[in-house]
Amino acid sequence: MVQFILPEQVPDRETFEGWTRWRLTRHSFIPAPRISSDEYELMRPREQQLHDLHRAATHANLPMQDTPMSNELTRVMRARLQNNALKLKPNTRAGLMITGGGFQGKTETACEIAAAFEDSWLDLHNHLNPNAIPGTRDLHVPVAYVQTPVTAKPKSTCQAILDFYGAEHKNMTLPQLTRQVRASLHDHGTRVLILDDITRLKMHRADDQDTLDLLRAFMSMNTTLVLIGVDIPRSGLLRAGKYDKHTGDWIFPPPSANLGDRKETQTERRFKLIHLEPFRYHTAAGIAAWTNHLDGLQQSLRLFASPPDMLTGGRMPEYLFRRTNGVVGLLELLVEEACTEAIATGTETITEQLLDSIALNLGDVPGRPRIDNEIPDVPSSAPPKRRRSRPRNTVFDDRGLPPDSDSEHAPNVAS
Ligand SMILES: Nc1ncnc2c1ncn2[C@@H]1O[C@H](COP(=O)(O)OP(=O)(O)O)[C@@H](O)[C@H]1O
Ligand SMILES: [Mg+2]
Repeated sequence: MVQFILPEQVPDRETFEGWTRWRLTRHSFIPAPRISSDEYELMRPREQQLHDLHRAATHANLPMQDTPMSNELTRVMRARLQNNALKLKPNTRAGLMITGGGFQGKTETACEIAAAFEDSWLDLHNHLNPNAIPGTRDLHVPVAYVQTPVTAKPKSTCQAILDFYGAEHKNMTLPQLTRQVRASLHDHGTRVLILDDITRLKMHRADDQDTLDLLRAFMSMNTTLVLIGVDIPRSGLLRAGKYDKHTGDWIFPPPSANLGDRKETQTERRFKLIHLEPFRYHTAAGIAAWTNHLDGLQQSLRLFASPPDMLTGGRMPEYLFRRTNGVVGLLELLVEEACTEAIATGTETITEQLLDSIALNLGDVPGRPRIDNEIPDVPSSAPPKRRRSRPRNTVFDDRGLPPDSDSEHAPNVAS
C-alpha cells in the first residue's frame, strides 16, 4: 500500500512515541509518479486533482540531500555517537555542539544521524540479545530529542526532557527534577541526548549558567550530549570553556558537586564544536557543489514543462544563490513556493521571472517560533538589473522577443 503521509499525522518528534513514529517512517514518503502532460490530459478530473495534490505533497516533502557540509557533520557525529555508546567504562562522554545559522539544516541533519544511529543500535541489541522478553525491562530509549523551551530555565529544560519520556514532573523542585532526569536517562538506556536550539538560553542570566552546569552533569550518564544552536561561539555557551588546540575540543570544568555527580565522574567535560555552513559561491568547488545540489533538487520536482536543466542551466545557479545566500532551507522554501505558483498559473516551469515574483516570508513558517537570530536574513527578490518598462496597452506591440529575453510568455501546458 502506498504510504501517503498527510499533515495531520506528522509526528511530533519531542516525545518518544512521536520520535519513534518519525524514525520508522522517515524515508517512506512516496513522491508523485513522473507522468507526461499528455498522460495527465487523459486523466479524469478527479485523478488530475489527486495527482496535483500528490505533486504538491512531493514539493512540500523534498528529500534531504547529502551536501559536503552535511557529510562532514555526519562523519564526525556518527563516529562520536558510536564510540561513546560502545564504551563500557563509567567515565564521562565527550559531547558535541553543532552551530550554524537558521534554516541551514542543523535540526534535520542531526535528527537523521541520530535516527540512523538508533536504527543500528537497536539492530545490534536484537542481534546480541535476540531472546530479550519485551516488557521485562524499562522501555529502551536510545535517543532523546528535546527542543529548548523558548524561555529556557533549568526547571523548564528538565521538564522538556522528562516530557520526551512521558515522565511525571508535577510540582517538583529543581533537585527532584534533576534526579528524575538522571533516572530517566539511566533507566531507559539513553545513549544520545539532543538539546536543540540551546542558544535560546541567554547566558547573562544566572539561571542559564545553572542550566549549563546541569547539562554538563548529564554527560556522566553514559550519554552523548548534543547541543545545537545558532552562532554558539557568540552565545556565551563557550564562556566557561577553553579551546584545546591539540584535540580541537572545548574543555569545561566539571559541574558543581550539588548536581548529583559521583566522585569518579567529577572530571572536565569535552565538546567538539562543528560548524554547519551554507553553500559558498566563490570557488569552483563551491559552485560545483551548489549546482550539484540544484541538480538533485530539480530531479525531485514534478512540473510538466520543466527542462532538465531548469535550475542548473544558464544564470539560474547564480540567481538562486543570490536569492538564498546558499542556505538549503531557504532554497527549499523558495522552490516549493515556485512550484505551487507554476502549477497554479499553468506555466509548469520555474523561470527567473516567476522567482522574482516570490518574496519569502520567514515570519510564519509552521512549527517555528519567531526568534530573531534563528531567522536568517533573506535577500530581497528585486533583481539588481535593468528592467524594461512595459506599455499598459499591449495590443499594438510587436510580440517578437529577443532570443535571450527572460520571456514572460512561458510555455503553458494547461491552456
Ligand atoms: N541537506 C539537505 N538537503 C535538502 N534539504 C535540507 C537539507 N538540510 C536541510 N534541509 C531543509 O531545510 C529546512 C531547514 O532545515 P532545519 O534542519 O530545520 O534548519 P535549522 O535547524 O538549521 O534551522 C528543512 O525544511 C529541511 O528539510
Ligand atoms: Mg533547527
